[in-house]
This record gives sequence, structure tokens and C-alpha cells, in this order.
Amino acid sequence: FRQFKEQQSDFGTMIYDPGYYNTAVCKSQITYIDGDRGILEYRGYPIEELAEKSSFLEVGYLLIYGDLPNREQLNVWQTKIMNHTFIHENLISMMKGFRYDAHPMGMLISTMSAMSTFYPDANPSLAGVDIYKNKQLMNKQIFRILGKLPTIAACAYRHRIGRPYNDPLNTFTYTENFLYMLDRLSETNYKPHPTLTRALDKLFIIHADHELNCSTATMRQISSTLVDPYTAVAGAASALYGPLHGGATEAVLRMLEAIGTVENIPNFLSLVKQKKQRLMGFGHRVYKSYDPRAKILKKVTQEIFDLLGMNPLMKIAVELERLALSDSYFIDRQLYPNVDFYSGIIYKSMGFPTDMFPVLFSIPRAAGWLAHWVEGLSDPELRIFRPRQVYLGRRGLTYAPLESRQ
Ligand code: ACO
Repeated sequence: FRQFKEQQSDFGTMIYDPGYYNTAVCKSQITYIDGDRGILEYRGYPIEELAEKSSFLEVGYLLIYGDLPNREQLNVWQTKIMNHTFIHENLISMMKGFRYDAHPMGMLISTMSAMSTFYPDANPSLAGVDIYKNKQLMNKQIFRILGKLPTIAACAYRHRIGRPYNDPLNTFTYTENFLYMLDRLSETNYKPHPTLTRALDKLFIIHADHELNCSTATMRQISSTLVDPYTAVAGAASALYGPLHGGATEAVLRMLEAIGTVENIPNFLSLVKQKKQRLMGFGHRVYKSYDPRAKILKKVTQEIFDLLGMNPLMKIAVELERLALSDSYFIDRQLYPNVDFYSGIIYKSMGFPTDMFPVLFSIPRAAGWLAHWVEGLSDPELRIFRPRQVYLGRRGLTYAPLESRQ
């Protein structure tokens, strides 16, 4: 698309599209969403089937390489990732320097960013080779990021609760190892409960990608400069941290806690309609119907409650959903529960503190970020992302020296 100008002083013809509501910035074969019909597919496979039948690492492979792995490919992929779960001692020392009550997401973002200084082979200007043309070198960064992210997340959690960090145990599966690093109490025969492991694995699968959501668009934007993937992932995670994106799960929990009882819901909803509050976990830029991920999660919630007992916040959530979905304010604006509405209740029931929620989102979303990293960099049409603006400020002023200013 070329800028069209009639005369020098024109802005030229540009699309003014705040928030990129209707702007496509790339072509992709990774994730398909039909927001009106509530359809989500990774590489052509329905999310419902993947959540039911696959493991998270299988789905990560599918997203990044385009096809489901066969048994041998899956074994190699798992082994490569699990061989990269340990993090450098100096990174651990760095993490130990954070305040005792540091937000785990801040720790994750900073540590991921610091990783770029530990792996100069990922930095095109330091490596002396164009890593984007070297499949093996790109794969190495993928193994490192996916392998180390749960370890960083677990260390951030242990730091937050004032306990020693745990080493990974690579004989476990990806998700088992993550739960093990969070919880391990002693050396003896500790194994996370299979129902919790499977529930978390399903959560990881449904969070793994969602085409150009804000953090993935950030990943594409940062990577378009050809910076190393650790820096790009840290930037994507920063976007995810915001309360309108990955931070929404945390915000849903805080909202449900603030509502407190079912009786307070009508009053809360009237504040939402007056735009004094936002109904967190509702609404989506793309879904104008029920988010298919929220449907899957509603079922997972039941599996968790069967094991651990009902979370009292669930009663408020169910009633809130019922009242909102029968209210013309939400119907007219096509506002339905999104993935964050139920995920927070599941995390809470599993014992995760609220500030771990964006961290739990970032671990699986990294698979999506990396899939877009690979696809973006292999796109012959890739150009550095550089949107335009409509300048409305003053022009051509005369500079006044400091002494003469009023
Ligand atoms: N509560 C109340 N009203 C809402 C909500 C909500 N959650 N979401 C949208 N609306 C209203 C807006 O006020 C606006 O009303 P208006 O037409 O009277 O001005 C209308 O619905 C359209 O909303 P937009 O803000 O234009 O929608 P947009 O696509 O820009 O925002 C977003 C999408 C950010 C997700 C929004 O729905 C929201 O803030 N939801 C709550 C936060 C949340 O749950 N985020 C998680 C998203 S999913 C994810 O990141 C994994």
C-alpha cells in the first residue's frame, strides 16, 4: 500500500484505525478464529479436540512447525525442551535480588529480558551469523525459551512465598515438572496430582495462541526489527501483563472478591452500565459470541471442584454470567464471557495466588509467540512494523530562549 499525496503538505492517504480494529498486518497459517460463530482452530484443528486429546507440548509443536508430531518427533521435541529447563546460576542470583513481594510477572519479564545477555548466539549483531536463516539456531532458542520459562515462573512464585527455589526434574512431563517446582516439599516421591496436571495442561493448550492478540502483535512488531527472541518475548509478556489482556484473569478474581455476595451483583452491574466499572472477563475484540475457550474451561472447573471442592466465588461468577447474558446492555454490545472469566477461579481453586495468573498465561502463550516469530521471520513480505499517525499538534513555532519565557 503506497502513500498517496496530492501536494507536499498533505498527510497523504492513510487508514486511521485506532487500536488496529480493522487492520491486518500479516498473513498467517497458525490460528483461525471465527468470532461470530465462536470457532477457534490451531493449524486447522478445533481447539475442543486439541484440549481433549493432546498434551501442551504436542500443541506447541503443532503451532510452531505446522503439523502434529508423530511419536518419534514428539519424543525428540520433549527431550530437547526438557534438557533446557535449568537456568543459569547468575540468573537465579539476579532473581533473588528482587524485593520479597515483587510481582512474579515483573520478575518473569525482567528475567526473560536478561536471558538475551546470556545467549549472544541469538543476537544477530553479536553472533556474526544471520540466525533467521539458520533453522538449527532458531530451534535452539525455542527449546531454551519453552524449557526455561516454567523454571523462571516457578522461581518467581517461590520467591513471592519466601521459599527456596527448586531445581527442575526432567523425568516429569512439562506440566508435571512445573507443578513439582512450585510445590515440592521434600525429595521423597512427590508427584503432582494427575487431575491437576491434566487441568493445567488443558489451560496451557487453550492459552497457547490466539492469532494477533495484543501480546502476539507485540511479538511480531518487536521481532520485525530482528532483535533476539528473548527481548521480543519479554516485550510480548509486558503487553500481556496489562489488565485489559493477560492481567484480566487477575482482575476478574479481584472483581468477584469485591462483589463478595450474590446479592451485590445487581448493584455492581448497574455501575458497569453507568461505565463506572468494567465487567472483567467479558467482551472481546474478536469474539462477538461465547468464547469457545470459556466453554472448555467451564467443564474443567467442574473437574477441579470434584477433586478439591467448590470455590465460593464460582457461585458469584455463575450468577453474574446469568444476569449479564439476560441484560440488554450486554446483549446489544455482544459481550460474552471470555477465556479469563473462569480461568481465575480454576487457578485460585488450585491454590495459585492471584498475582501468578498472568505468569500462568505467559508460559503457554510463549509457544504462540514463538510460532509467530518463526512465521513472521520467514515471510518474504516482512517489513519493519512502522504505523503512521495523524499529527494534530502545532507547527512552525519560533523558539524562545529560556530567560524570555513567561
Ligand atoms: N464491561 C462493560 N462494558 C464493556 C466491556 C466490559 N468488559 N467490554 C466492552 N464494553 C463496552 C464498551 O464500553 C463499549 O460500550 P459503548 O459502545 O457504549 O462505548 C462497547 O462495549 C464496545 O467495547 P470496546 O471497548 O470498543 O471493545 P474493544 O474491542 O476495544 O475491547 C476488551 C475489548 C478490551 C477485551 C474489552 O471488552 C474489555 O475491556 N473487557 C474486559 C477486560 C477483559 O476481560 N480482557 C480480556 C480479553 S481476552 C484476553 O486478553 C485473553
